[in-house]
Amino acid sequence: MSEPTLITESAAAEVVAAALRAVAAASNSAELRVARAEFTGESSALARMNASLKAAPNDQKAALGKIVGQARGQVNTAIAAREAELVEAEETARLASEAVDVTAVATRWRPGARHPLTLLMEQMGDIFIGMGWEIAEGPELENEWFNFDAMNFDEDHPARAMQDTFFVDPVDSHLLLRTHTSPVQIRSLLDRPLPVYVVAPGRVYRTDELDATHTPVFHQIEGLAIDRGLTMANLRGTLEHLARAMFGTDAKIRLRPNYFPFTEPSAEMDVWQPNAKGGARWVEWGGCGMVNSNVLLAAGIDPNEYQGFAFGMGIERTLQFRNDMNDMRDMVEGDIRFSQQFGLVV
Ligand code: DAH
Repeated sequence: MSEPTLITESAAAEVVAAALRAVAAASNSAELRVARAEFTGESSALARMNASLKAAPNDQKAALGKIVGQARGQVNTAIAAREAELVEAEETARLASEAVDVTAVATRWRPGARHPLTLLMEQMGDIFIGMGWEIAEGPELENEWFNFDAMNFDEDHPARAMQDTFFVDPVDSHLLLRTHTSPVQIRSLLDRPLPVYVVAPGRVYRTDELDATHTPVFHQIEGLAIDRGLTMANLRGTLEHLARAMFGTDAKIRLRPNYFPFTEPSAEMDVWQPNAKGGARWVEWGGCGMVNSNVLLAAGIDPNEYQGFAFGMGIERTLQFRNDMNDMRDMVEGDIRFSQQFGLVV
């Protein structure tokens, strides 16, 4: 047993004063726990004073007990009061850190929308569906035979070199990225019973650098009608209907002689665009012609029995002159602000 601690009012007051300072200085629950252990724990000065009461003379026990009891009461009260303060402050801080501002502007998720090129291809496709035509498809990774040979491009015909083609390794696979949608003509003729009336919108590839008027990946829409007795008048009427459906009833077309291996005769088609921004004008729109009999023969069709016409135009180019866009790059960059000008159509 250690020596009994002397109990005096001033010793008790000193301990209480030190305890109150420590309690007031505790700035969080952890610091308060340390102060509590120091001033109320088993080895604290007040606990030792309390223990030495036993050894005090009987006639002084009550008075000394009162001194110790009051001192312990003061210290415990101060600790309890500080604890309540700290718990409240910590709770307030926790609530503040977890607070949700219900008035904050929410992140708005924009719905996705289809690209203007997709919408334009669909619009053009719909015009033909309205005339009873069908939509046809073909692969973008195409066989050279469909892209060139069957379309009547000679082995060393300059037209074959004219198209800047992405050939796919190995060269003897005879695979390429289709340079136009025209191979879908042959695929449609091989797949379908006659008569055939199809349009084939789709992606095509050429080794062009990206600039204001070229992109190495672009879109075309191909048209093919093969039936008995079709003439150039049917071609003209069909394209004029397309022009009016897209550019208004004042639109019209004109054909200028041209050359394509897969049509004979061939023509370049211009459209009269009455509502053009800078005033009505003729615009070069696409190629067309009567399907060359060699194309029909490649598909196993007798050219004396069936004839027809074909046409093809660029979708980017159509969007460019229809909507007065200067730079084709805007169409491929995927900036939502571009699509927004056309309305967000899902
Ligand atoms: N395939 C041609 C091109 O990419 C466009 C074309 C011209 C398609 C005349 C046709 C056509 O069907 O008859 O330039």
